[in-house]
Amino acid sequence: MWLFAFFATIGILANTINVTQAKFDYNCNLTAKGSPKFPDSFSFGVSTAAYQIEGAWNEDGKGESIWDDFTHKFPEKMDDRSNGDIAADSYHRFDQDLAALKELKVTHYRFSIAWPRIYPTGDISSKNQKGIDYYNMVINKLIANGIEPLVTIFHYDLPLEIQKIGGFANPLIINMFVTYAIELFENFGDRVKIWNTFNEPFDYCKPGYADANYPPQVNAHGVADYLCMDHSLKAHAAAYRTYKTKYYEKQRGKVGITVSSRFFFSHTNDQEAISRGMQFNLGFLIHPIFSKTGGYPPAMVETINRNSLKEGRVSSRLPKLDGRWRELIKGSSDYLGLNYYTSRYIKRASKPNGENPSWERDYDSDAYPDETWVRGKPDWLYCVPEGLEGILKYIRDHYGNPEVIITENGWSDDGDPEDDDRIHFIKAHMQAVLNAVNDGCNVTGYTVWSLLDNFEWQKGYTHKFGLYALNITSPSRERTPRKSAKYYRRVIETRTLPSIS
Ligand code: NOJ
Repeated sequence: MWLFAFFATIGILANTINVTQAKFDYNCNLTAKGSPKFPDSFSFGVSTAAYQIEGAWNEDGKGESIWDDFTHKFPEKMDDRSNGDIAADSYHRFDQDLAALKELKVTHYRFSIAWPRIYPTGDISSKNQKGIDYYNMVINKLIANGIEPLVTIFHYDLPLEIQKIGGFANPLIINMFVTYAIELFENFGDRVKIWNTFNEPFDYCKPGYADANYPPQVNAHGVADYLCMDHSLKAHAAAYRTYKTKYYEKQRGKVGITVSSRFFFSHTNDQEAISRGMQFNLGFLIHPIFSKTGGYPPAMVETINRNSLKEGRVSSRLPKLDGRWRELIKGSSDYLGLNYYTSRYIKRASKPNGENPSWERDYDSDAYPDETWVRGKPDWLYCVPEGLEGILKYIRDHYGNPEVIITENGWSDDGDPEDDDRIHFIKAHMQAVLNAVNDGCNVTGYTVWSLLDNFEWQKGYTHKFGLYALNITSPSRERTPRKSAKYYRRVIETRTLPSIS
């Protein structure tokens, strides 16, 4: 009887594994088109962010960020009541990260600098040399090991003191950000040649200033989120122009911004619905920067103006981008950083969505997944590699084929060391990139999110995105390569996408 139960369980397990595998092979796969090899100049990397890995939240003079404040005051808002106080402890254990980077053989490493480590209050008057020393150490060790640093200047962790004066709702943020960026150009620009001003503004502006899920928990739908986007865009452009006029001649680096976006499909070939989806998502920030005309996307300008007047306002909730700012923003990026995770089908909304007013109400679209798509641990993450190929071609065709670096792409699960699903996801998405490159898209790099498991914002440490498992309960925070780490290394070594064994 016991023996029977044992074999039956093994049988069921094997079946489940087979089913998942088959599903992946079938539904998270992309046919190769063109050369099987990535160009020699193509760069392969992994990505992390300061608050998600560094820990040492109050050490060596670091100031408090809005995420320190939020996780300490509202632990119940994280699924596991956790925070980034220690995280992967990369502040003390960068050598462990470096060992993993070397083992992977990546050609670049994307990490972010914690603004409150450099300026604890956010202001130049609080400059903290120990913070500068830490990043000098990181950058020097990367370069000594032939790994190019790709540095994100801001990845969600705003100094709390800046929030007290309104954060991204206050136009003062523009000058404060430029002052901080100058500090980084001055200290690190001799070695850092790829700067990334902002990571995913939509993803801190909307949850932070509209939905109130993220700090600063402002609930001003369709107003403060738009203001936050506008100020982020202006701060980006101002930092870009400063670099070009004051630093480029000596430092010869590139400055870009990272946006996140999904691609959209239509079951009824409704091109207008697709175009609306692209304008309200990808286009929100990249239309002002990469389009010929500049300014916010026409569908957003028109709808938000119309809705605002209907609501009895005297002007649009979407700030106007004209005159000097429009010109300063247009063309203000040497490359586009793209974080791509998933896609959706889209149609015009059957009934009003969201609150009045809100981005959802203005968007006036229903976006939904295809039921055959394979889903990861997060409820939003479906494997749709054809969406990545689609969005890259869309960027090529609508925005003048700028240089694109995929700054994030990744899969999250419960932490299986034999993470075949992640391997399938990465292989399929890299195939999408390769197909796009073979079709003339100017994509020059690909970056896996993430090097190692880390603090996944409100999901805490329950969602694992790492090529390396992080032992979060051990004081020495060991990093252990998953099967996907070994696969990614083979990709990098061969510049091809080997079949999965
Ligand atoms: C994008 C964000 O930049 C990063 O911080 C986050 O962990 C990943 N997406 C996964 O959700």
